[in-house]
Amino acid sequence: MKILVTGGAGFIGSHTVVELINAGHEPVVIDNLSNASAESLNRVKKITGKDVTFYKADIRDGAALSDILDKEKVDACIHFAGLKAVGESVAKPWEYYDNNIAGTLTLVDALKKHGAKNIIFSSSATVYGDPAFVPITEECPKGSCTNPYGWTKSMLEQILSDIQKADPSWNVILLRYFNPIGAHKSGLIGENPNGIPNNLMPYITQVAVGKREKLTVFGNDYDTHDGTGVRDYIHVVDLAKGHVLALKKIEENAGLKIYNLGTGVGYSVLDIVKNFEEATGVKIPYVIGERRPGDIATCYASAKKAEEELGWKAEYGIKEMCEDSWRFQKNNPAGY
Ligand code: NAD
Ligand code: UD1
Repeated sequence: MKILVTGGAGFIGSHTVVELINAGHEPVVIDNLSNASAESLNRVKKITGKDVTFYKADIRDGAALSDILDKEKVDACIHFAGLKAVGESVAKPWEYYDNNIAGTLTLVDALKKHGAKNIIFSSSATVYGDPAFVPITEECPKGSCTNPYGWTKSMLEQILSDIQKADPSWNVILLRYFNPIGAHKSGLIGENPNGIPNNLMPYITQVAVGKREKLTVFGNDYDTHDGTGVRDYIHVVDLAKGHVLALKKIEENAGLKIYNLGTGVGYSVLDIVKNFEEATGVKIPYVIGERRPGDIATCYASAKKAEEELGWKAEYGIKEMCEDSWRFQKNNPAGY
């Protein structure tokens, strides 16, 4: 299939473009490069041997989208484009609602006008809030989000679901990612955050490479096995493959579908530090700090539904996640 990949120059997008090409699909990337470098797509070419069609464009620009879709005649869209920094979203709510929600509305309108009523949307485990139970199944009620970023995900799930209900010729696949880390085995593409990393693994790799002095562990008084927060970390290549398999549901005209993409295994912050040190041989100095506002104790998926319906199962374990995150950071100490 010919697939429009919004945000395809970013972390998860670039890995998905590789897997789409490996599976024989034809990706067409649009990205405004607000949080990415076009170099990631040059690296994709090194990995796959294929040129990637790329448009530098903003999903809020309806005229640009229309021109691209007139030319490219895509079958479906995998929609990664969005702002994702939780703290920044609290300080800049308008920018988050405009970029993520207005952008998606403009994109959906353009897809509809071009007869490509098929979208796979990057949602997040954040929609479960403080989950009612773990492991989290897709039936777990959505919760209250603690920040505008989370609300954009929750609201967009609702908006896309309502659009599909009103017009069942749409296929809408909502993928709820748990915590993506790792990088492509080549060490050529990976996560390249701007400024001080918000998330655990990029912070750890920056400590390992000497860019940051030490990790601050956000609280050790949670109700978990060692007091630190427990999450479901998933290798980004496994996550990318989940998108390729989700295209099957579009081919089957499945309508509205929701899947968790996680491993089903929870690791604490200190488990991650220990696994990283074992996998890489690099020591990670850390101190225990205050809890981060909005954090929860425990979040991990039940990944059964994706396995049963998509035939998808995470293949990589924590050792490879740590090794691969580190390889990208070591090879690219200053990013792309
Ligand atoms: P990323 O920032 O690396 O990728 C997002 C890409 O979208 C970037 O390349 C950015 O330049 C682009 N973009 C942003 N706004 C745009 C716009 N208006 N028009 C065109 N391009 C635009 O982030 P990622 O980690 O690859 O995340 C991809 C998607 O998955 C996002 O929607 C994110 O919210 C979601 N998600 C990410 C995580 C995570 O932990 N990484 C977890 C759950 C969900
Ligand atoms: C973050 C986002 C969430 C998003 C999710 C997906 C925040 C507040 N939440 O959640 O919206 O859906 O990523 O990837 O950013 N930690 C430290 N020290 C650090 C960084 C993190 O101890 O410097 C801890 C956190 O407290 C948490 C764990 O590491 O227990 C993972 O944190 P992080 O990588 O930020 O992910 P989430 O909090 O799960």
